[in-house]
Amino acid sequence: MLKNYSPTSTEAWQQLQAHYTDLQPQHLRSLFASDPQRFEKLSLQFEEFLFDLSKNRITEETIDLLVKLAEEMEVPAAIESMFRGEKINVTEDRAVLHTALRNFTDRELQVDGEDILKEVRAVQQQMQVFCDSIHNGTLTGYTGKSFRHIVNIGIGGSHLGPQMVCEALKSYQHPNLEVHFISNVDGTDAAEVLKKLDPETTLFIIASKTFTTKETITNAHTARNWFLEHAKEQAHVSKHFVALSTNTAEVEKFGIAPENIFRFWDWVGGRFSLWSAIGLSIACALGYNRFEELLRGAEAMDKHFREAPLKQNVPVLMALLSIWYANFFNCQSHAILPYDQYMRLLPEFLQQLLMESNGKSTDRNGNPVTYQTQPVIWGAAGTNSQHSFFQLIHQGTILIPCDFIAAAVSNNPIGEHQPLLLSNYFAQTEALMRGKNQEEVRQELEQKNMAADELKTLLPHKLFEGNKPTTSIMLRQLTPYNLGSLLAMYEHKTFVQGVIWNIYSFDQWGVELGKQLATSIEKELLSNKTADHDSSTANLINYYKGHLN
Ligand code: F6P
Repeated sequence: MLKNYSPTSTEAWQQLQAHYTDLQPQHLRSLFASDPQRFEKLSLQFEEFLFDLSKNRITEETIDLLVKLAEEMEVPAAIESMFRGEKINVTEDRAVLHTALRNFTDRELQVDGEDILKEVRAVQQQMQVFCDSIHNGTLTGYTGKSFRHIVNIGIGGSHLGPQMVCEALKSYQHPNLEVHFISNVDGTDAAEVLKKLDPETTLFIIASKTFTTKETITNAHTARNWFLEHAKEQAHVSKHFVALSTNTAEVEKFGIAPENIFRFWDWVGGRFSLWSAIGLSIACALGYNRFEELLRGAEAMDKHFREAPLKQNVPVLMALLSIWYANFFNCQSHAILPYDQYMRLLPEFLQQLLMESNGKSTDRNGNPVTYQTQPVIWGAAGTNSQHSFFQLIHQGTILIPCDFIAAAVSNNPIGEHQPLLLSNYFAQTEALMRGKNQEEVRQELEQKNMAADELKTLLPHKLFEGNKPTTSIMLRQLTPYNLGSLLAMYEHKTFVQGVIWNIYSFDQWGVELGKQLATSIEKELLSNKTADHDSSTANLINYYKGHLN
């Protein structure tokens, strides 16, 4: 079981505090200048990846102390507890075994007396047969036409992962299929997607772990009504609707036949579920073999995470860096910057993964935590982001650690685009690290023959402090396998941060209150009843009601 004490009570935490005081004033420029081996010491390779940590505000001593913190917080034992299937999701009394979904060994893995790997293989087989029959045209719609459109209806973990992966791997997509996503309960989302579809060639995948999520069920009903307007007969629904869920009873109540249900299990958390049946839209879009490559890439990272010593363990080190910035530098946000248009949805996916997992303020004893937990995750693709918010990262008043992610080989090698993209990728981390000091700005302006007065006025605005921490993650090429490894890395990083913060990463009670209130307010909006609210909420509801008709 997971240990349960505050990280602040460890010896390493105290040592890190003293070390922070020493290191904080030092500039990355001088750290590079004083150690020609800095890159070699502070970078790691994993298969086709290079993880360069050397542009972070760290030294080897920082890594040693952070690793000591991980040891004192018993991270290795926690990792084993997760892989072995112990019920580490204590508040929901569940195991956490998304890793079992990409475990291709032939060993058994028992949960509550069942070999879950056997069940996993059975569903994977069902998914493969289903995908193949869509691709080879043996599975057709109600008029006998092959499917051309796949629509995933889901939200949160039942949407963000599949959508992000489908987008990231678009260049591998089956040429005859288009994948669409409906998630928001705002009718606009469904309306705009449905407009593009032909009911005879559209397959709807209703993705919901619980099958009770209001948004998804509402969108599913809207899709079914739309379909029936065209197809007329209820019997045709079974040819066009399948469900992905742990709750087969609710799925059947919705009217989806048992043979159209792809199961998964309560030991798969929503935001960790793209590897399960929730990935059916991915498997349909890419073909099952490529979906399996994604799983195999994740499996390789799982193996590394479980076996590598902490000091060479990529997810562990990535987590420790985040702890270093959140708890010692007091950074309240972390940017994810993929220099790859295909990966532009990665920040959104990681927002749920990290913020829903670790946005907690109660520790495992049930006490309020006394230190910062998850910072805000945000970001967007480069180079577009350079032309919007990079100003603040370079010259703003807050320190924002960034992950810069790029593939060496483009999946669309057109002209000089890739060297141009990557020149920006390299330039930005170098600029953030080095900055530009008084002397450099002065020289530059003098070379332009700027008048002394003007130079004096302009100089402070052109200064770059530098010393902004970045981690560069490079991969050879964006392939299903490599994407699998990258995502698994972020999953494990999420878990390690939670272990060190002594919080439970696999529940999400914080989403419940809003859901409860929305359910009762919905009743109020659909009737003449009024309920007790604060004056703000009451007047907002009145404004809405006053604008009906
Ligand atoms: O509201 C949050 C949440 O429970 C997420 O954790 C989950 O990914 C999402 O809703 C969707 O849940 P479901 O797959 O059960 O519809």
